[in-house]
Amino acid sequence: SMHTELEKLLDTTTGEAEREVSRKDFEGFKNLFHRFLQVKGPSVEWIKIQRPPEDSIQPFDKIAARGLPDNVADSLNKLVVVKLNGGLGTSMGCKGPKSLISVRNENTFLDLTVQQIEHLNKTYNTDVPLVLMNSFNTDEDTKKILQKYTHHRVKIHTFNQSRYPRINKESLLPVSTNLSMNGQNTEGWYPPGHGDIYASFYNSGLLDQLIVQGKEYIFVSNIDNLGATVDLHILHHLVSQPNGKRCEFIMEVTDKTRADVKVCGGGPGLCRFFSYVSHIFCTQWCCIHYICLGKQGMFVLSFKVNHLHTSNVSIIAYSNPQGGTLIQYDGKLRLLEIAQVPKAHVDEFKSVSKFKIFNTNNLWISLAAIKRLQEQKAMDLEIIVNPKTLDGGQNVVQLETAVGAAIKCFDNALGINVPRSRFLPVKTTSDLLLVMSNLYSLEAGSLTMSPKREFPTTPHVKLGSSFTKVQEYVNRFESIPDMLELDHLTVSGDVTFGKNVSLKGTVIIIANHGDRIDIPAGSMLENKIVSGNLRI
Ligand code: UTP
Repeated sequence: SMHTELEKLLDTTTGEAEREVSRKDFEGFKNLFHRFLQVKGPSVEWIKIQRPPEDSIQPFDKIAARGLPDNVADSLNKLVVVKLNGGLGTSMGCKGPKSLISVRNENTFLDLTVQQIEHLNKTYNTDVPLVLMNSFNTDEDTKKILQKYTHHRVKIHTFNQSRYPRINKESLLPVSTNLSMNGQNTEGWYPPGHGDIYASFYNSGLLDQLIVQGKEYIFVSNIDNLGATVDLHILHHLVSQPNGKRCEFIMEVTDKTRADVKVCGGGPGLCRFFSYVSHIFCTQWCCIHYICLGKQGMFVLSFKVNHLHTSNVSIIAYSNPQGGTLIQYDGKLRLLEIAQVPKAHVDEFKSVSKFKIFNTNNLWISLAAIKRLQEQKAMDLEIIVNPKTLDGGQNVVQLETAVGAAIKCFDNALGINVPRSRFLPVKTTSDLLLVMSNLYSLEAGSLTMSPKREFPTTPHVKLGSSFTKVQEYVNRFESIPDMLELDHLTVSGDVTFGKNVSLKGTVIIIANHGDRIDIPAGSMLENKIVSGNLRI
C-alpha cells in the first residue's frame, strides 16, 4: 500500500522535469524503505568489532612529513570541494540555510568557503570548483545569494539532494497527500541525510560532468565546520598512491579531548542532585572540579581520580556521540555510530580508552569509485531512523543515511588522525562566540588560533538558553569580550555584556530567575563567579 500511496503522490506532480526528479526520488525512497523493512536487529554484532589495524589510521604528522611536491597545482586541478548544504539554521533560531548565517566580520559560512577556494585558485593558478549539495529547504535561498560570487575566481555548481516522504510511525504510510511544496504540505517531506550525496550527485549528472573535466576526487565536509579547509598534504597523499593501491576514501578523524567530556552522560549522574552542573572547569593532577548549583547555593565539587582516562568516577562519559568512530569489521574499516550501538555497550562506546577517535565528516572520495558503486548499486548504507513529532502532534519517522557510513564500500580506505583544528563546527551560539572572538584570526577565509593564546586548547563556553537564538545572542553582547586567557565560561539567565569586557580563567555568571546581570563596559573578570545576589 506504500507503493500505491506514493504513486498517488506522483500523480499530483505537474511539470515534466519536476516529474522526472520526483520519479528518481520515488525510486530512491522505495529502495530505502524496502531495506528498512528488511532490517532485523542491530547492524553490527558487538563481538565482531575489532580495533582498526595499526596502519589503517595514520597520524596526520606522518602524512605531512612527506612534504609537498612541486606540482601541487596538478593535484589541485583533480580536486572538487563539496559542501553539505542541505541543512537549515533552525537550531540557532534562524530561518533559511545555515550556510547564510554570519559567523565572522559579516562573513557567512558560504562567504568564508568561497574566499578559501578563491585564495587557493589564485595562489596556485588552479581551477578548483565548489559544489554545494542543496536540499529543497535550502536551494532557492542559496541560489539567490550565489549571484554575489559571479566575479570571484571559483566556479560554483549546485545539485539537489532527494526529497523523501516522512512516514507515520505506526502505519508507515506517507503523511503528505500531495507533492506541493507550498502551504501546509512542507511538513510531509525531508532531506534524507548527507548519505544521500552519492545517489543524488550521480543522478544529477554533475558527477559525470566533473569526471569528463578530469576531476578525480572530492573533498566533502559540513558547511558549518570552519576547520574543513583543503589540506594539501592529504590531497597529495591521495593522488600519489601507486596503482593497485589507489585509496578511494579518506576519513579525517580526530582524538576525543577534555572538551568532549560530559558530566551525567549515563547512569545516576550529578544532575539528579543539582539544578546545574558545569562542564569540568579545571583538571589538575588527580583532581576534577565542577561548579554545582544546588539547594544550598553554588559550590565547587572536586573528585579525586587516578587518571582522567581510566577514570573510576562512573559519572564521566564522553559526549559528542554524533561523530561516530572507526572500527574494523569483516576485514574493512567501518563507521560505528552511537545509534548502532546496543544499549548494553553505550558506556563502552563513549569511553575514551577503547574508542579514542571520532569522525569529523571531512572526507576525501574518488569520483570514479562513487560512479562504480552507484552503477553496481553497492552502497548499502546503514539506515538511521530519525523520529520526529510534527506541529500537529503526529509522530513520524524519517529514514536517513550518513555520508561517512560508505567507507566500508570503498577500496583501500584510510583514516587520518588530524589535529583538532580541522574540526571547528559551529552548532550553537557558544561555538559562535568562540569563532567571533580574538581567539581566532581570519585570513583568506580561514580561521587560525591566535598565536597570542598561550594554551593550545579552546576555552569551554556554555551559554544558557537566553542566548540560543542568534539574534538574542547578538543583542546581549555590545562587543565580543576578550577571551585570550579564558579557560571556562558559563553564562545562565538574563545576562548582557557591555563593550570591551575581558574574561580570564574560569568565569561563571548566573542570573537567577527574575534577576538580570549587566556586565559593565570595560570590566575585567578573572576567576569570578557572579550571581544574582552573590559576587565572589
Ligand atoms: P547535521 O545537522 O546532520 O550535523 O549536518 P551534525 O549534528 O554534525 O550531524 P552529523 O553526524 O554530521 O549528521 C551536517 C552537515 O550536513 C548537511 C548540513 O547542512 C551540515 O552541513 N546535511 C545534513 C545535508 O546537506 N543534508 C541532510 O539531509 C542533512
